[in-house]
Amino acid sequence: MKQIVSFMLLFTWSLFTSILLQAQDIVIKEAKFTKGDNGEYKNVAFDDSQWVNASVEKNLRKQKLDITTQYGWYRIHVNIPQSMLNESELKGWIRIHLPHIDDCDETFLNGHLIGKTGVMPRSHEEYSHEINYRYPSTREYLVNANNGIVKWNEDNVIAVRVYNANDQGGMMNDLVRITPVRRIEGIALAFDQQAFDPKGHTNIIIDNKYSCKQQGQVHVDIFDIDKQQIIHSFDKNISITKTSIIPIVYDKNTPIRITITYTDKASKKAVTATTIPHYIQTPKAPEQPRYNGTSVYGVRPGSPVIFKLAFSGNKPMTYSVQNLPEGLDLDTQRGVLHGHITQKGDYTMTLIAENNKGKAEAPFTLKVGNTIALTPPLGWNSWNCWGLSVSQEKVKSSAQALLDKGLADYGFVYVNIDDSWTAEKRASDGRIVPNEKFPDMKALGDWLHQQGFKFGIYSSPGDLTCGDYLGSIDHEEQDAQTFNEWGIDYLKYDWCGYYKVFRASDDRSHAAYLRPYIKMQQYLRQQPRDIFYSICQYGMDEVWKWGTYVDANSWRTTGDITDTWSSLYDIGFNKQAQLYPYAGPGHWNDPDMLIVGKVGWSSQLRNTRLSTDEQYTHISLWALLAANMLIGCDVAQIDDFTFNLLCNNEVLAINQDPLGQQARPLFKHDDIQIWGRQLADSSYAIGIFNVSDKDISINPNDYKEYLKIQPNTTIRDIWRQKDLSNDTKPCLLHIPTHGVKLLRVF
Ligand code: GAL
Repeated sequence: MKQIVSFMLLFTWSLFTSILLQAQDIVIKEAKFTKGDNGEYKNVAFDDSQWVNASVEKNLRKQKLDITTQYGWYRIHVNIPQSMLNESELKGWIRIHLPHIDDCDETFLNGHLIGKTGVMPRSHEEYSHEINYRYPSTREYLVNANNGIVKWNEDNVIAVRVYNANDQGGMMNDLVRITPVRRIEGIALAFDQQAFDPKGHTNIIIDNKYSCKQQGQVHVDIFDIDKQQIIHSFDKNISITKTSIIPIVYDKNTPIRITITYTDKASKKAVTATTIPHYIQTPKAPEQPRYNGTSVYGVRPGSPVIFKLAFSGNKPMTYSVQNLPEGLDLDTQRGVLHGHITQKGDYTMTLIAENNKGKAEAPFTLKVGNTIALTPPLGWNSWNCWGLSVSQEKVKSSAQALLDKGLADYGFVYVNIDDSWTAEKRASDGRIVPNEKFPDMKALGDWLHQQGFKFGIYSSPGDLTCGDYLGSIDHEEQDAQTFNEWGIDYLKYDWCGYYKVFRASDDRSHAAYLRPYIKMQQYLRQQPRDIFYSICQYGMDEVWKWGTYVDANSWRTTGDITDTWSSLYDIGFNKQAQLYPYAGPGHWNDPDMLIVGKVGWSSQLRNTRLSTDEQYTHISLWALLAANMLIGCDVAQIDDFTFNLLCNNEVLAINQDPLGQQARPLFKHDDIQIWGRQLADSSYAIGIFNVSDKDISINPNDYKEYLKIQPNTTIRDIWRQKDLSNDTKPCLLHIPTHGVKLLRVF
C-alpha cells in the first residue's frame, strides 16, 4: 500500500471555484449496487451481474434502496485510456472523484484500497456521529498510476463500500469523475474570520492538497462596497507546500469585498474566491444609561412579576422607578422588579437608571390582565448550540454571559433548556426528574429569577421527545405542577414523540391536532404563575389559524432551521410570507431560533455558516416578522460582530414594537424583496433584501410606493442608526449579495 496516497477533501464549496469538465475526463452516472457487506465485493473477478443499477447522483433512499444502519457496495466498471496519464500535470497520478457520500466510505480500485473518508463502524452500536459521519463532502482520491494498479485501456473496477446510519444513504448530488491531475485542482482558497479581533482581521488561506510544491501568483483586490471602488490591490508570488496564509487588516466598520485569484505559474490556470468579512454597523452604546427594553409588559392578576430593567451603559448602575405600584419591589442594584399585583389594570411608571456618566428615564406600562407576551420573547435556548449535550452548567454559563456581556441589558431574558434534561425514568410517584446533568432545577430557577431572567423548559406530548428523552404523556397535570414548583416561565411543547399516538389512530380531524396542546394548556393555566406556551409542531394543519384557540403564545411555523442560506431563505422568506395576519400581542409566529454566533447542535461548536450579510438579513427579518428571538449560540463565546447583530436597540425596537404587527412582503422580484410593517408611532419599518447571488445597487426613489416615501419623510438606516438624507432623498443603496438595508421611514 506504500505507493498509494489518498486524500480527503472537506472544503467549502462556495469558496472553491469549480473546475470545468475537460475532454479527457471520464464521467460516470451509474453503478452496480447491492446492500450488505462482503470483502469479496472489492475484487475485480467478482460477478456483479445480478446487482441492480443505481444512480450515483440520487441518494439510495430516493431509489428505494435504503440502507439505514447497514452497509452497501457500489461497483463501477470503467475503461481508463493511457492518454489520461500524459495529460496529468502531476506526473504519474490520476484522480478519482466521488459524489457526496452519506455517511462514510472505503474505496478500492481493482481490489486495492485507494482511500477512505470517515470511519466504517464495526456495528451500529459502535456508530458515533463525530467519528463515522462525513456528509456532505465529495471525495477525491489520487492514484499513483505507475504502480500497476490501473489497467490502461482495459476494464477497471472501482468498488465503493458505504455505511449509512440514517437518512438518505449512499452517493448523491454529483457524478463520479476520473481525470488527469491538474495542479490547480489541488489549490483551495478560504477565508478565516478572526472574529474576536476588534481591529478587523481576516486571513486568506491557500491550501495545497497535493503533496508537491506549487508555485503561483496571488492577486488580491479589496473593494469598498459603499464607495463602489477598489481601495487596495496587490500581487504576490508564492510557493506552497501545504498552506500559505495572507493576513488582511481592514476597517471593521466598512463593508469590503475581498477577491483573491491564484494563478498556477506553469499552466496559467486560475482559481478565484471572494468574501465579505464581518463588518460592524451598530454604533457603540453610549456610556450613560440608555433604555433598550420593551415599553409594555403583560402579567396575569396575582402571577409573579419578574421584570428586568434593560438599560445599557457603564456599570455599576442604580435603578429606581417612579409610580411603583403596591405589590412590587425593585432590586435597586440588579434592576429587577419582583412581586404580584392582583388588581387588573394598566400601571404606568417611569423606569430610571443612573451611573457615573448620567441618568436615563423610560416610560413603561405594566398591563395586569389576561394577555401575557405583549411583545415577542427575547432570550436564549440551548438547542442550536449544545443540542443533546446541554447541562445545568452550560445553561448557567450562558445566563451569566447574558449578564456579563450586556445582552440582558437589551431585553434578552428568557433562558430556556431544550431537549435532554430528563432522567430515564420517572420517580415512583410518577414525578418527572431531571437527569444527572441538571442537579438542581429549583435552585437554577431561583438563581435565574433573582437575576431578572425567566426560566424555560422543554417537553413533548408523546412518551418520548425528539431526542428520546421522557415526554409528558399521561402526566400532563403532574408535570405542569412540577414546572410551577421549579419556577418555569416558558414551556416549549414539541409534538415529535406524539407522532406515535397520532399514527396509531385514524383520526386526522382538526381536533386531533389540537388535542395534546389543549390538554397541557389546561394544566399550565391552573398554575399560579404565567407560563409562556410555545407550541412546536412544525406548522401542521396551519397551526397559525388555531394557535390562539389552544391559548398558545407562539407556534413554530416550520421544521427545524439550520445555518445555511437555503434554510434561512425557505423558512424566513417563503414560509412566512402569508402569515402576517396571525401574529399580534400575546401570540406570535415562530420561525425558529437564531443561527448566528457559534452553533453546532452538539458538544462541538463552530462558527455559523451564514455569510456576514446573511446574518444581517436573518436578524433584520426576524425583527420585522415580530418573531421570537431566541439566541441559539453559546453566549459566552459571542464576539463583537455577533453582539453588534443582537444588540442594536433600534433593530430590537422594531421586533418589540407594541403594535405587534408582523411585516408582509410588499414587493417581490427575482433579486429584491421588500418587506414592511407599520409601527405604533405610525412610522414604517422596511427591509430591502437582496436575495440574489450578486451585489446590487438600487435607487430608493424607484421603489417609492413600497418604501412609503413621501415628500417630507425621513429615512433612517436602522443598522447604522443614521438618517440617510434630509433633502433630496438618497442616492444609491448598495446591498451585497444576500444582504439587507433595514430602514425606518417617518
Ligand atoms: C425538534 C425541534 C427542535 C428541538 C429538537 C430537540 O423537534 O423542532 O427545535 O427542540 O426537537 O430534540
